[in-house]
Amino acid sequence: QDFLLPEQLLSGKKIAITAGPTREALDPVRYISNHSSGKMGFALAAEAARMGAEVTLISGPVNLPTPAGCQRVDVTSAQQMLDAALAVATEQDVFIGCAAVADYRAANVASQKMKKQGEQLSIELVKNPDIIATVAAQSEATFVVGFAAETQQVEQYARSKLAAKGLDMIAANDVSNSSIGFNADDNALTVFWPNGQQAIAQASKQQVAAQLLQLIQQQIQP
Ligand code: CTP
Ligand code: CA
Repeated sequence: QDFLLPEQLLSGKKIAITAGPTREALDPVRYISNHSSGKMGFALAAEAARMGAEVTLISGPVNLPTPAGCQRVDVTSAQQMLDAALAVATEQDVFIGCAAVADYRAANVASQKMKKQGEQLSIELVKNPDIIATVAAQSEATFVVGFAAETQQVEQYARSKLAAKGLDMIAANDVSNSSIGFNADDNALTVFWPNGQQAIAQASKQQVAAQLLQLIQQQIQP
């Protein structure tokens, strides 16, 4: 397939991508979230569409325009992101979990604004569902790609997530380096799959997205 131009590399392929943070309510006016900007997931969506894929972009709360040619589904919480993902996952050729899903949510969401009380406050949290692991378990024909945000032992933690979540590929980034971490304009990845790995050098998120999509394309059409 070497003769294919990048514009045609993913034509006819259906790709769903999660992007951005999730936001977990504590009460009607407060939430727990993280600093994910959504830039990497939106760059992947834009590049996949440019390469000819039919793209569904499942986005948490971000401040970014919808990339050309993508169908966007906006969600807030991890549970909503899971529901949106499962609604489309089995019909996808590729599912990429780029979202920074909140690992926990409040055990009880207060229906009224919480009032300030004593000097200390403890909030009980419960674990959120693992979206990408659920997609991988329920969509056997879909090539499922995760991200791994790590600050240390990147390969070891990424490979254990690859196996534990039943993924086909995982893209690890070292978020201890602030020039490529959350909210940065650049990224750099080390991509792992069961019998291989490939580094993608620091570049704009758009350039990194194009290279990751080419790696995915090589794996789905060897
Ligand atoms: N992920 C997910 N659902 C969750 C948590 C994570 O789908 N509830 C996905 C992310 O979108 C990413 C991958 O799992 O593709 C790895 O996320 P990461 O936060 O690095 O891993 P965790 O499994 O949450 O482990 P930890 O935060 O403890 O490192
Ligand atoms: Ca996590």
